[in-house]
Amino acid sequence: MYLKLGSKPKVVASKPEAARAFVKALDLNLSNRAPNAGATHLAYNVQDLVFADYGPRWRLMRKLSNLHMLGGKAFEDWRFIRREEVGHMLQAMLECGERAKPVVVSEMLAYVMGNMISGVIMSKRIFKTKSLESDEFKSMVVELMVAAEEHRTTSHERCDNPDLLDVLMANSTNGRDGLTVENIKGLLLNIFTAGSDTSSSIIEWSLAEMLNKPSILKRAQDEMDRVIGRERRLEESDLKNLHYLRAICKESFRKHPSTSLNLTRISTKPCMVDGYYIPKDTEAKRQHMGRRERP
Ligand code: HEM
Repeated sequence: MYLKLGSKPKVVASKPEAARAFVKALDLNLSNRAPNAGATHLAYNVQDLVFADYGPRWRLMRKLSNLHMLGGKAFEDWRFIRREEVGHMLQAMLECGERAKPVVVSEMLAYVMGNMISGVIMSKRIFKTKSLESDEFKSMVVELMVAAEEHRTTSHERCDNPDLLDVLMANSTNGRDGLTVENIKGLLLNIFTAGSDTSSSIIEWSLAEMLNKPSILKRAQDEMDRVIGRERRLEESDLKNLHYLRAICKESFRKHPSTSLNLTRISTKPCMVDGYYIPKDTEAKRQHMGRRERP
């Protein structure tokens, strides 16, 4: 679908086949993001990973974050951090129960996600409190950035197992294409903002959907009792045997896409996608909302 909003041409991939064609065509032509005020003012004048224009630093930031945080091997390597944080969360829930205090899921998830991310980025649990008010997001970010500043002084302690920030700093030498301080700060901010709310909101949605349909909740609990029992915690390695739970996760992603209108990309020169002509400077969006109507 081609739209002209004011003077800006936009093309929206509203069907799965069209979205797939865009993903396939995501080459140099569609690597840049559309400019916007947020990226200029909040992302260090477009020096971060998400909004920087394609070039050597764009490639370096993606390479390092994939190798050390987002890619499959890194994901496996950091499994122990996720396990530890889930342990802290369960302990906090238990304490709430013992003191007859309510468990505020959204606050607890914000704290857990923040700590999982800071564990991988800088080998540190940033948030010591048991829960966070959602309006404390700004102070979470400030805290993260302050800890990042202090991180350099302890890098020698992690020679054998450097974290993402160690690796980024090691790549920030003066070379022409090395990372700048703005690149590093922007990237940390990207990972923190992209990873925390997306993950916690989808968990909240899944829980809300299950509470709304108790028969589904019961079936998921029965499956866990059968596969795991009541004597131990769920481990990530159990997931392959929890088919019903995995189906619930997929369905929650379909019904509640957290980045509905996603981060727009812009064509740097005219190109063809799936037989359609896309002019230069056209914003390309993949429309996730439609998945709700087309299961
Ligand atoms: C439920 C969880 C998540 C959802 C639904 C989600 C969704 C998305 C979407 C739709 C994009 C845009 C992709 C594109 O433009 O092609 C994106 C980008 C990104 N996400 Fe996530 N994400 C999630 C979790 C995370 C986590 C946990 C992290 C990091 C710890 C993360 C880091 C990023 C980064 C860095 C980008 C920018 C990638 C780039 O520009 O190349 N995301 N995410």
